[in-house]
Amino acid sequence: MPAPTPKPEPLIRKCVVPAAGLGTRFLPATKAVPKEMLPIVDTPTLQYIVQEAVSAGITDVILISGRGKESMVDHFDLAVELEAVLKARGKEEEFRKLRAISDMANIASLRQKEPLGLGHAVLCARGLVGNEPFGVILGDDIIDAEEPGIRQLARVFRKHDQGVVALMEVPPSETHLYGIAAGTDLGDGVIQIDRIVEKPKPGTAPSNLAVIGRYVLPPEIFDILEQQPPGVGGEIQLTDGLATLQKKRGLLGYKFKGQRYDAGDKVGYLKANIAYALKRPELRGPLLEWMGEIVRMEKP
Ligand code: UTP
Repeated sequence: MPAPTPKPEPLIRKCVVPAAGLGTRFLPATKAVPKEMLPIVDTPTLQYIVQEAVSAGITDVILISGRGKESMVDHFDLAVELEAVLKARGKEEEFRKLRAISDMANIASLRQKEPLGLGHAVLCARGLVGNEPFGVILGDDIIDAEEPGIRQLARVFRKHDQGVVALMEVPPSETHLYGIAAGTDLGDGVIQIDRIVEKPKPGTAPSNLAVIGRYVLPPEIFDILEQQPPGVGGEIQLTDGLATLQKKRGLLGYKFKGQRYDAGDKVGYLKANIAYALKRPELRGPLLEWMGEIVRMEKP
């Protein structure tokens, strides 16, 4: 992972990272290891997420954790004993890498006692966010982009003074897997949303624009989520809260620039590993050679 770049002016100060889910799609790996701690090459998914927030100028990361997921917080703490061993062995580079992780950001964590849904996870952060706009980055959703994904959204928020969700085009056969938004194109990738629904039944989606794991929201969302009854799957859905926010105050979508990997899904996770490995000069050659062999063997 590249060294952190100098921190830009913050457009928003705080970011909530929901990471309290059970990660059932990755069982048995996630029986004792949080899904968000599974590595992309050699770096936990969550570290990419926190790195994105920091690169966007965010100073306070609020991690929503759950039972048995303490290793997520430990990862961003000082590892005094390990650091001493690395120093004693003259492993300066490894030492510096480790120290950079604990110096990365001001991380507060709190427990979502039960995984009652994404909307509920965000609501848990109310006390720490307070009365200011904030970002949300899902703990298993990676965006590889020149300008950090959450900063792209924060710019749109500051320009229009409305909540913003990240949008991505998906094939019609996949719309039932996402929150889907439709609305009027305002140009420059910005959509004024007039409809947003969670996991529409096949054939009923209002568009093919899927909401993916980045949001910049006004604090009014907390009052809305507090009143929010459970939705699809019996969970308190953030998308339902966003639908209310859209009606009360307006809501924008932004077709972000960058490559997104859903590291909470097996294929997405494998793609992220391959894409990030191919960026490493020491891994690229051997990996491409092996991939070439596989393709040749798979050919009829
Ligand atoms: P997912 O729905 O992808 O996570 O939520 P999950 O429920 O852990 O996954 P599966 O379907 O069982 O495999 C997206 C993000 O929101 C968090 C998750 O930890 C993940 O990072 N989340 C989800 C919460 O923090 N709390 C919840 O109640 C649900």
